[in-house]
Amino acid sequence: MNTESCPVDHTRPADPVTGCPVSANAAAFDPFGDVYQADPPEAVRWSRDGEPVFYSPSLGYWVVTRYDDVKAIFRDNITFSPSIALEKITPVSDEAIATLERYDYAMNRTLVNEDEPEHMPRRRVLMDPFTPDRLAHHEPMVRRLTREYVDRFVDAGKADLVDEMLWEVPLTVALHFLGVPEEDMATLRKYSIAHTVNTWGRPSPEEQLTVAENVGRFWQFAGTVVEKLRRDPSGDGWMPYSIRKQQEYPDIITDSYLHSMMMAGIVAAHETTANAAANAIKLLLENRTVWEELCADPGLIPNAAEECLRHSGSVAAWRRLVTADTTVGGVPVPAGSKLLIVNSSANRDERHFEDPDTVDVRRDNATEHLTFGYGSHQCMGKNLARMELQVFLEELTRRLPHLGLVPGQRFTYVPNTSFRGPEHLWVQWDPAANPERSDPAVLETRQPVRIGEPTTRSLSRTLTVERVDPAARDVAEITLAAPDGAPLPSWSPGAHIELELGEVSRQYSLCGDPGDRGRYRIAVLRDPDSRGGSRYVHDRLCPGTTVAVRGPRNHFRLDTDTRHHVFVAGGIGITPILAMADAVRAAGGSYELHYCGRSADTMALLDRVRRDHGPRLHEHSSDAGTRLDVAALLAEPVDGTRIYACGPQRLLSALDTASAHWPEDALRVEHFTTAGHELDPAAEHAFDVTLADSGLTVRVAPDQTVLAALRAANIDVPSDCEEGLCGTCEAAVLDGEVDHRDVVLTRAERSAGTRMMTCCSRACGDALTLGL
Ligand code: HEM
Ligand code: FES
Repeated sequence: MNTESCPVDHTRPADPVTGCPVSANAAAFDPFGDVYQADPPEAVRWSRDGEPVFYSPSLGYWVVTRYDDVKAIFRDNITFSPSIALEKITPVSDEAIATLERYDYAMNRTLVNEDEPEHMPRRRVLMDPFTPDRLAHHEPMVRRLTREYVDRFVDAGKADLVDEMLWEVPLTVALHFLGVPEEDMATLRKYSIAHTVNTWGRPSPEEQLTVAENVGRFWQFAGTVVEKLRRDPSGDGWMPYSIRKQQEYPDIITDSYLHSMMMAGIVAAHETTANAAANAIKLLLENRTVWEELCADPGLIPNAAEECLRHSGSVAAWRRLVTADTTVGGVPVPAGSKLLIVNSSANRDERHFEDPDTVDVRRDNATEHLTFGYGSHQCMGKNLARMELQVFLEELTRRLPHLGLVPGQRFTYVPNTSFRGPEHLWVQWDPAANPERSDPAVLETRQPVRIGEPTTRSLSRTLTVERVDPAARDVAEITLAAPDGAPLPSWSPGAHIELELGEVSRQYSLCGDPGDRGRYRIAVLRDPDSRGGSRYVHDRLCPGTTVAVRGPRNHFRLDTDTRHHVFVAGGIGITPILAMADAVRAAGGSYELHYCGRSADTMALLDRVRRDHGPRLHEHSSDAGTRLDVAALLAEPVDGTRIYACGPQRLLSALDTASAHWPEDALRVEHFTTAGHELDPAAEHAFDVTLADSGLTVRVAPDQTVLAALRAANIDVPSDCEEGLCGTCEAAVLDGEVDHRDVVLTRAERSAGTRMMTCCSRACGDALTLGL
């Protein structure tokens, strides 16, 4: 290797075996080989584990594989220019260049590979057709096409889903969306694959000629279509829209852009989605129990689509050019370096996703995957792709729930670094068992499609009541388990679950043992004024009944840096407090537990509390005249002490008043709801939110939350409670004063002004700048 031109730092410790600063794994990295093609994130696991930024001599690229590094690169499109995103990764032979020249091939910048300051104005001008509001009218078309294709093979018993549906439906949807007349599908498929191989593949010199021919024809086809649309640009679709916008903004929407985008757009909108759908169905059928869960509960489909994009997305890696000497993950990378950022690997990074190799369709943060990129170039078509994936999964799980993979098939992939999906996907089923044969209503059913990123709020799992035990007068302790005994999601002290109880849903803190992955335990007080929740629990839940459960979620976390814990529970508020006290006791921490109630017989779980916390327990019973003196308890502030409290509002308010002279954050209380998260548009003002990572400015109307305005502008922000309780929708604040309305941030965090909850908090003035 010529060390003068080699970008690797030769002062780094050399590999003990080869003596070279490029490690053996890095030297062997081959993104066109079978191992990478079979499973890109698995192929670079070694890198995620130990060498997350490495130079690949055979590729001439630096390769980046961890979540934080990949996201940081996507976030900074100035230091990391996207200009090489569509560059041919394999040097082109002279003959292939000559062939392309014969077709006047002049592929230029589009959006995905355009630098600033040109990119953002173009993106802004062309974004409108991609926003959730504008996409809604495509849903009937996506559904009609999907049904037509399923109709063709539903009685056959065997199909190659790629050839018979997943290639053509996204292509037709793409053509509709773009406003391009439907052309010969087989030819377009050939062209698309040629474009992929041309851009991200490693064709042999002979293959390069065939590829160049097809790319050249694709280029000419794109030119003809643009000319045709120019003659009458009044039609529907993104390309006629772009041509109309060219009349308004000729310097932003150039001729060269339109011709290039016509070609790149078909590939961007089509192949990515076709591959994503094939990957998703393959993944779900390989994880049969997950497939069956979707068949039983289609409400899981939006998040399942997202989890499939995370686990087995269709864009495995993307590229950036380094414009100034910098460091990536602590490794110096000089200006001019090319980066292969393996987003599929980032999506399986356990530093960001818990248990990342498992397919978990209820995963809270599945939408944080980087398959659509991130920041100012993030995929504009993501919500159209999400819609297609949801409709495909819904139609197939409903009409062919008994679908299975044809055993023994070998999956093949078009060898390339970036676009990934099986070339064929053979499935089989027994047509005699098709549900629509016995129940034609199956054909009429449909699940509302969620346009935009899914919310995990609606995701529930059905649990069985294992036991109901008396825990005090009018208090029942309910033990829940999965019907098949499978382990339940883990939880930490302070967490709660939400039960669907007939017409209402109610949240209850978990009070069992977090180490017991098979069971959840809650205690429920019968409330005489119950509007259905506690009455339902007491009257209807008995061993063997089932109940839909959401969560667990934790808005009431125990801090690990607390020197002494003062736990205060009022009545049924003992449930989260008990789990916390158990945890501190098990860890050998210092604590005291104050348990207040009317009388001993009304105090839930008192036997257990006495047994496990006797020496630290202070019982306060109003009947016995041993009421807690809150003012005396908190008279002297103690450094490093925190007070954790749950109980009636009266008790919490008294603690709040009594701890006013304590350090900031000393008092932690459990909130299940917040007052004032309802918006009163008459009392609010509009303001602008500028997004530093995405380069957008979004107007927030008086009747809109920041979260809603961001989503309407196609920016994904994860959310959960949407009332300022959980912290999921947090965004970094770079400029502007925030009107905080959540209960997540402490007083000190509020006055620092560097974070906000976008679901409820607003701007004090006219503008905010967020790190999104
Ligand atoms: C950009 C992935 C579907 C249109 C991108 C980028 C990725 C991507 C990785 C680059 C992001 C970046 O540099 O940060 C995907 C995947 C899809 C999909 C995985 C399907 C599952 C679509 C569809 C359309 C589309 C259906 C059009 C209808 C675009 C456009 C850009 C883009 C226009 C360029 C945005 C810009 O640079 O400002 N996509 N895409 N994509 N995608 Fe998609
Ligand atoms: Fe829970 Fe905003 S979504 S605080």
